[in-house]
Amino acid sequence: MTKPKSEKLLQWVEIDSSALIHNIQQFRKLIGEKRQFLAMVKANAYGHGILEVSRIAVKAGADWLGVHSLEEGILLRESGLTCPILVVGYVPLDGLKDAVAHDLRLMVYNFETLAQLPKICRQLQKKAFLHVKVETGTFRQGIRREDALSFMKQALEHPELVLEGISSHFANIEDTTDHTYAQSQLQNFKKIIQELEKNNIEIPLKHMSCSASAILFPATYFDIVRAGISMYGLWPSKETFLSCRLQEREPLHLRPVLSWKTRIAQIKKVPKGSFIGYGCTYKVSRKTVLAVLPVGYYDGYDRRLSNSSYVLVKGKRAPLRGRVAMDFIMVDTTDIPGTSLEDEIVLLGKEGEDSITADDLASLVGSINYEIVSRINPQIPRIIT
Ligand SMILES: Cc1ncc(COP(=O)(O)O)c(C=O)c1O
Repeated sequence: MTKPKSEKLLQWVEIDSSALIHNIQQFRKLIGEKRQFLAMVKANAYGHGILEVSRIAVKAGADWLGVHSLEEGILLRESGLTCPILVVGYVPLDGLKDAVAHDLRLMVYNFETLAQLPKICRQLQKKAFLHVKVETGTFRQGIRREDALSFMKQALEHPELVLEGISSHFANIEDTTDHTYAQSQLQNFKKIIQELEKNNIEIPLKHMSCSASAILFPATYFDIVRAGISMYGLWPSKETFLSCRLQEREPLHLRPVLSWKTRIAQIKKVPKGSFIGYGCTYKVSRKTVLAVLPVGYYDGYDRRLSNSSYVLVKGKRAPLRGRVAMDFIMVDTTDIPGTSLEDEIVLLGKEGEDSITADDLASLVGSINYEIVSRINPQIPRIIT
């Protein structure tokens, strides 16, 4: 985060710590005290601010933090966090030494990684704690079922390596109300575990649950639940919400954690018939008052929102006019009297009775709430409220 030169921020992201704590408590209640909760803070905590969120999550009772990269893991360690941190992405072979030195747990699924680790551990005189990712049908990361046994045996040959966890990830749990495929992945996961157990390989921590599976299927909990999107107060999808209702279960009460705000950089009167912004894609059909906002696609405000989204000005909707530029957008405030230079504007969040949700923006650009929040530029200050 770069330190602002002016006291007045041009734009900022507010993190509602009470909402974050509330959502973590909802998960705690759901999964019970015996299971561990991993707060997924990869991708700058889904845009919320990795350090800010991690500190609050750990205080609120998260047992683990989940990151994508070695760099994120080291950042958390260097900020003083001591809880178990699992790197769920790929650590390059020449980064393994740093990972072990920083006590990062590794999600592993390549024989090449396994081959490098014992020597590194001996050099550092440290153990490496491994969570083996197994392929159950997502065909992203994961060791194939037919290779799982030899992978584990190879790891067990080395006293420096601790086979701490076995894990998988669902492919098709958010996008549908038909969970046949997810159930088949769960069965595949169980079969792999059984095959290992038949060979006297018992791995203490089993985990495959994300937000949607945690909300819908207690059978997926095992020992650790790894939740991201719903910890931030967002539903994984409409389908997940609907499936939850169809199960006649009390839906989780989630509170969105993030708001994104800016200030008016200029107010101007525009004559009827003027074109607004790059490409002259919008022509005003009346005498218009425009507010110019210092936010653009560089900040993560998607260019596909051109001419289609709106912001909240004094709690009222002001439609976006013209294209989203790199650093600016323009909104029509003709029907919102009394606006002044540097007034606060809500780009995402609630004001008064109205709100703009990540789901609203996602549906306007044909994407998902995950993308909307995680692409908010990490350089924008995150402020805990
Ligand atoms: C390996 C892994 N586990 C857990 C999660 C959390 O998923 P969600 O944000 O849907 O809870 C993710 C997110 O993509 C992931 O990649």
